[in-house]
Amino acid sequence: MADEQTRHDDGGGVATASDSLSVTDNRTGESYEIEISDGTVKAMDFRQIKVSEDDFGLMTYDPAFTNTASCRSAITYIDGEAGVLEHRGYPIEQLCEHSSYLEVAYLLIYGELPTREQLDEWVFEITHHTFVHENIKKFVEGFRYDAHPMGMLLATTGALSTFYPDAKNIDEDAERHMAAVRLIAKMPTLAAFAYRHNLGLPYVYPDNDLSYPGNFLSMMFKMTEVKYEPDPRLEKALDVLWILHADHEQNCSTSAVRSVGSSQVDPYSAVAAGVAALYGPLHGGANEAVLRMLDQIGTTENIPDFLEGVKKREEKLMGFGHRVYKNYDPRARVIKEHVDAVFEVTGRNPKLDIAVELEKRALDDEFFVERKLYPNVDFYSGLIYEALNLPPDLFTVMFAIPRTSGWIAQWREMQEDPETKIARPRQIYTGGREKDYVPIDQREKLTDKPSAETSLIDPGKG
Ligand code: ACO
Repeated sequence: MADEQTRHDDGGGVATASDSLSVTDNRTGESYEIEISDGTVKAMDFRQIKVSEDDFGLMTYDPAFTNTASCRSAITYIDGEAGVLEHRGYPIEQLCEHSSYLEVAYLLIYGELPTREQLDEWVFEITHHTFVHENIKKFVEGFRYDAHPMGMLLATTGALSTFYPDAKNIDEDAERHMAAVRLIAKMPTLAAFAYRHNLGLPYVYPDNDLSYPGNFLSMMFKMTEVKYEPDPRLEKALDVLWILHADHEQNCSTSAVRSVGSSQVDPYSAVAAGVAALYGPLHGGANEAVLRMLDQIGTTENIPDFLEGVKKREEKLMGFGHRVYKNYDPRARVIKEHVDAVFEVTGRNPKLDIAVELEKRALDDEFFVERKLYPNVDFYSGLIYEALNLPPDLFTVMFAIPRTSGWIAQWREMQEDPETKIARPRQIYTGGREKDYVPIDQREKLTDKPSAETSLIDPGKG
């Protein structure tokens, strides 16, 4: 779902008198100078504010970290007001036009665009690590026929750590590099195996002759043909979609990767935490909701009524609005440009007409203008996935594949940051204290435990 806003580091330096905050504690009358640097104050500087010697000191309270920077990062810059997204300083529009997903993955992880030689080597390495151990294949076979592909991806990503135990040597550069290569290389293979498992189709092994997105299309859709030939327009559209989803700074899944990784666990386990976070409907699932909404609207004639319902708060305009972007999401603009190319191959998705008209009317409407509600990345991506014949359950998997490069880049940056410590938030305790244990036969029933409806007959649900 919504990602955090970048706070720009303006070069910082030593705080001057004006780079500080004067705070008076009205409980004691004491005043404190709190340093401001990079537009932030340090939460730990408030700990000195106490009412007595044995007081723990003042903490800050920020559930969901809506106004707390959790790290310094040089990977992704977002200006939500202006609708700007840059990776390592390069605007997303330029990357989508001139670059490839694998090149952007290199840029995110290693900090600069690769030379021709570096890129060739990187692509070669990734191409030659796309196979997974046969036991991973058997592992996928063990899932129920209707297992959610994101659940399968979560489990198989975590399982990779058992196949590469040396990855726990997180201080070794060679191991970190191999984990980056393997994760980026194998994620499409794991995703395609999960998809084919749901369909009861044999898994298709990677084809090293194909591009990164071309190989994914082959592993997904190859049937009896000797060699699958991906349509270059679909390869390009997929590559652009993957560039757009590669990183988005400290969002929920990236924070999960950093938080779990801060325990110094291996990167496969940390990235599995990212997959788990993305699985949630508030993060990776909005494009599916857009399709349901477009289905519900049905025809362009019903749009005015639907928008009235949104204004009366009976409906939500899915794919609109963003915690950070208060302008057109730059990713939505690029996706929209590629929709037609995809439909040239797949045939037009009739829902596109509803989406375009809905966008036009919403952007003309005072309610949405006032609230700065614009299309976000999810408004058009679901239409492309549906045109590719992908089931809605797979949409979040299509997000996880490219976000893997962002997760790895952020994980590496965290490992290299001397300020990194194990993530350990504080709490405001709201429970009881110092109660005396009550023997079981003297207890009154104070709470009702919810009872789950489980069947003892269906072994899948027991
Ligand atoms: N439809 C109708 N009204 C909306 C919408 C929407 N999609 N989004 C925001 N609003 C309204 C709110 O009701 C609120 O109105 P009010 O001030 O009159 O009460 C106002 O706009 C501000 O909205 P907030 O809820 O404060 O915005 P917030 O930043 O908390 O929420 C969010 C952002 C969750 C993304 C929201 O816009 C939303 O639910 N959008 C639809 C779901 C969606 O598309 N999610 C995908 C995001 S992109 C991504 O995750 C990759």
